[in-house]
Amino acid sequence: MPRSRQRTSPEVNLNLNVRRLGQSATLVINERCAELRREGREIYRFGLGQSPFPVPACVVEELRSHAFEKDYLAVKGLRELRDAVANYHRLRDDIDCAGDDVMVGPGSKELMFILQLVYYGELVIPTPSWVSYAPQAHIVGRAIHWVQTTFENCWRITPDQLEALCKVDPQRPRLLILNYPDNPSGESYESDELRALAKVARRYKVLILSDEIYGELHHRGQHVSIARYYPEGTIVSGGLSKWCGAGGWRLGTFTFPRQLRWLLDAMAVVASETYTSTSAPIQYAAIRAFEGGLEIERYLHQSRRILRALGQALYQAVEKSGARVAKPRGGFYLFPDLTPVAGPLRARGIQTSRELCHRLLEETGVAMLPGSDFGRPDDEFTTRMAYVDFDGARALVAAEGVPLDSRLERTFLTTYCERVLKGCDLFCDWIGAV
Ligand SMILES: Cc1ncc(COP(=O)(O)O)c(C=O)c1O
Repeated sequence: MPRSRQRTSPEVNLNLNVRRLGQSATLVINERCAELRREGREIYRFGLGQSPFPVPACVVEELRSHAFEKDYLAVKGLRELRDAVANYHRLRDDIDCAGDDVMVGPGSKELMFILQLVYYGELVIPTPSWVSYAPQAHIVGRAIHWVQTTFENCWRITPDQLEALCKVDPQRPRLLILNYPDNPSGESYESDELRALAKVARRYKVLILSDEIYGELHHRGQHVSIARYYPEGTIVSGGLSKWCGAGGWRLGTFTFPRQLRWLLDAMAVVASETYTSTSAPIQYAAIRAFEGGLEIERYLHQSRRILRALGQALYQAVEKSGARVAKPRGGFYLFPDLTPVAGPLRARGIQTSRELCHRLLEETGVAMLPGSDFGRPDDEFTTRMAYVDFDGARALVAAEGVPLDSRLERTFLTTYCERVLKGCDLFCDWIGAV
């Protein structure tokens, strides 16, 4: 072997697009928490956004009775499941679609990656937005256009911003990812806002990937899909991970407009050469989840009720602490902005949101993710708080004992979500002390 090659690190053979990336931020914080816990530290986990609730019993039962299913299934997904997903969107979202418009994959994240790979368009995402959209674009070499949102605007992209961006080069193919209820802010869009965004997207033929993975966790059950207003250009992304508590089952779905069948087919080609098909027993069980019914409705009602009560309590506490924070409307996240205490933070040697989270974790045991992981500027003091560190199974059973039409009181939260309240108090005290 020539001498020069002997001396070079083997890493030169890594694809450049991958070399620049670290491991997914959420996984890193999780590992650090596990390390600290092994050292005996008490850790309050506000880092990883995993549902606290168990998979509904009827869905688990379906999985049990399909454990013997061992065959590879069709690459686009099991026919009965695709039909069930289409039916679900027809009823739930008023979208005109059929089973043939649905693609099932091992998590919506994987489907998003394949979409970015096969669709040759600039990725448009708001900042802040979920941690994996941008790294996926980097890996496949797509350009990214970040749209700056503000606290005042509840971290939402406006139709004027979309218009201004598209006007510059109206013919450029673009993929806009909208996520609501939103990770990281817990915010959502109202129907009129969606209608206005849809109008601009239609004018410039922007492809929308509507990431509605938290749709069923809208705290008031009032989620509306933008596909209603822009059916021909919207792919709806969903799955079992959040509303069904089944992140580790790995099942996601994309629902396409008929006009975009060519895109679905192209994705299926890549899927057939990579993961082949989604786990068979999981797909059979997922049919039950998408079929819905009384048990699932009840489960969802109680999940939303608990998350709404908890989200409001945390929102009030964080607001009082001196940070600013948007009122959550869905999912299980808050996005506190500590800009009002930026001076004292800097005086303590904290210059970035990453340092902020590091110090918070080391000094209080509260683990959160820095705003910079969601595309915010490094020196902005934003953090994401996932309020899921409680026993969701126990909370669901207890909520059943509280009349359906009454609110869950503070005593409910202090009994069943104690760790989340305690962690939030520690966070607020820490802010107060800076
Ligand atoms: C906004 C958002 N989209 C997509 C996903 C991926 O979900 P899945 O488990 O279906 O891959 C997540 C998971 O954290 C998420 O928060």
